[in-house]
Amino acid sequence: MKIKTVEQYVDLYRKSVQDPEGFWGEIASEFQWKKKWDRILEYDWKKPEFKWFGGGELNITENCLDRHLDEKGDQAAIIWEPNNPGEEERILSYRELYREVSRFANALKRQGVQKGDRVCIYLPMIPELAISVLACARIGAIHSVVFAGFSSKSLATRIDDATCKVVLTADGGYRGKKTIGLKAIVDQALEISETGSVEKVIVYNRTNQDVVMLEGRDIWWKDAIAGVEDQCQAETMEAEDPLFILYTSGSTGKPKGIIHTTGGYMIYTTYSFLNVFQYDPGDIYWCTADIGWITGHSYIVYGPLLAGATTIMFEGVPTYPDAGRFWQIVEKYKVNQFYTAPTAIRALMKFPIELVEAYDLSSLKVIGTVGEPINEEAWVWYKKNIGNGVVPIVDTWWQTETGGILITTIPEVLHDHPTFAGKPLPGIQPMLFDESAKEIDGFPASGRLAIKFPWPSMARGIWGNLERYKETYFSFGDRYFTGDGALRNERDYYRITGRVDDVIIVSGHNLGTAPIEDVINTHPLVVESAIVGYPHEVKGNALYAFVILRGDVDNPEALYKEINGKIAQDIGPISKCDKIQFVPGLPKTRSGKIMRRILRKIASGETSDFGDISTLLNPEIVEEIIRTRL
Ligand code: WT7
Repeated sequence: MKIKTVEQYVDLYRKSVQDPEGFWGEIASEFQWKKKWDRILEYDWKKPEFKWFGGGELNITENCLDRHLDEKGDQAAIIWEPNNPGEEERILSYRELYREVSRFANALKRQGVQKGDRVCIYLPMIPELAISVLACARIGAIHSVVFAGFSSKSLATRIDDATCKVVLTADGGYRGKKTIGLKAIVDQALEISETGSVEKVIVYNRTNQDVVMLEGRDIWWKDAIAGVEDQCQAETMEAEDPLFILYTSGSTGKPKGIIHTTGGYMIYTTYSFLNVFQYDPGDIYWCTADIGWITGHSYIVYGPLLAGATTIMFEGVPTYPDAGRFWQIVEKYKVNQFYTAPTAIRALMKFPIELVEAYDLSSLKVIGTVGEPINEEAWVWYKKNIGNGVVPIVDTWWQTETGGILITTIPEVLHDHPTFAGKPLPGIQPMLFDESAKEIDGFPASGRLAIKFPWPSMARGIWGNLERYKETYFSFGDRYFTGDGALRNERDYYRITGRVDDVIIVSGHNLGTAPIEDVINTHPLVVESAIVGYPHEVKGNALYAFVILRGDVDNPEALYKEINGKIAQDIGPISKCDKIQFVPGLPKTRSGKIMRRILRKIASGETSDFGDISTLLNPEIVEEIIRTRL
């Protein structure tokens, strides 16, 4: 499964295009199936519908766990590093993880969870989060992990959308110096939940906080597993049975519950993990993401465990107790592959270099980034200081919807190059297209990025909304549209230039502007608002809101705080706006559409070159907004 030379890459790539079924069938044969598939791929772009390994039956946890017990039973599967370096780490061997997952799977069954039920997981980065995910998969329940930084409202929306039957949470969590309450947020969410679908809440005691336990609904984790068997027959799943739902922001409306299914996701996450990180048996791999995001699903839990790797889970933050924490952990465990976000690198670059130099990073073989473009300065710093000038960087491009890494370089095979993510992995067929949806051939080329052939881990739908799935991703012909713009150079490398829709990537988090504007607009003093992104040194992009008020404001500073407080409460702190400018109007077209293009330029500090604004309904407003720009 592992590509070692550029010749192999070229050969495999050719084969994957000429005979995709043969290519994927061979890879799929390396897994443990309860029943072999009948057909490798059936698809229809128009419907749209994609079926991989139809007729095949399996359980993904047998491939993550049982399959490794003979040879790797005593090898560490998960190494958990706590927030507080003074607290002891926890190491779960494959055998221990297998038992804990089986035990908790049985506990879930005992609480009435059945195949196909949705289970919401709202846990901090502790081993029980990975155990919960796998326990759901063991019994065929569909997990929906919600990042534990989301507000009660956001949590409620997600619980309701998927009508979850059970919520798994903790009393609270530790992040840096802070202790966060989680159970109280779940309580609030269940109070405002409109469906009332949740029957049980299982609560892990992480921080010894006082929490209210609702009789009949809430159960402590330790009670839920008391007297439960640590062997659990894995449920038989069809290849196309949903494995999980994971919410991501859309450019409009409520978050999209992206659906991933079992067989294709299993194969693609393993294949991409092994190739991109060139993982060798015995290596220690660390991805710093949170399991609340797709990166954590695919490259902390599933990919590494499917590959029989040792994966590190870190509970804390990069700057606690100081900004050397990441490097201290790399030294402590002799990490071989390290995978993080550009925003973390940009933040850590600002600290004295002694915080890096204090640690031995010579174990590193591959260092990676994900989530947003990595600017050249950060890339060069990363390569020089973390990679000792020689360790290959993988700048991996992918999305919640793609399930796994699609465009990247491959260590020692395809060389890294700053500001370019790289080439497609074999099996992935990217294309660029123009405004009229026509494919752009050759190089240099720039356009919208799409994938023109199905791949095994592509999203199979949006929960409860097939129409939106079709509209969002399949409106430009027989291809999957990514929402990103990209350019291609003479080496056939792709540079991702950013979103071409109203999604803004802030610190690697995918934020839709519409839901944040909705929150701002509910403030009694607000008439209308528009949010755009502007370049930010550390966050990549930050949010700039233009807000029209009813009448004058006495204390803009107080109103700024009030609005951001409301955003934090209704959505989550990551969606707060760095700048809020109060304006008398917004530039609009004659049909009433806000001209975001102009606002983006104003927010980025441009003073000229606003294009033709004479067709606006209110061209005079542009001058006015520039005059009072923040
Ligand atoms: C969006 C997807 C994939 C896991 C984390 C984000 C941006 C992602 C890169 C990269 C430039 C990137 C894209 C994409 N993005 N990786 N290496 N270079 N941009 O998943 O939250 O679904 O966001 O992140 O704009 O569309 P996500």
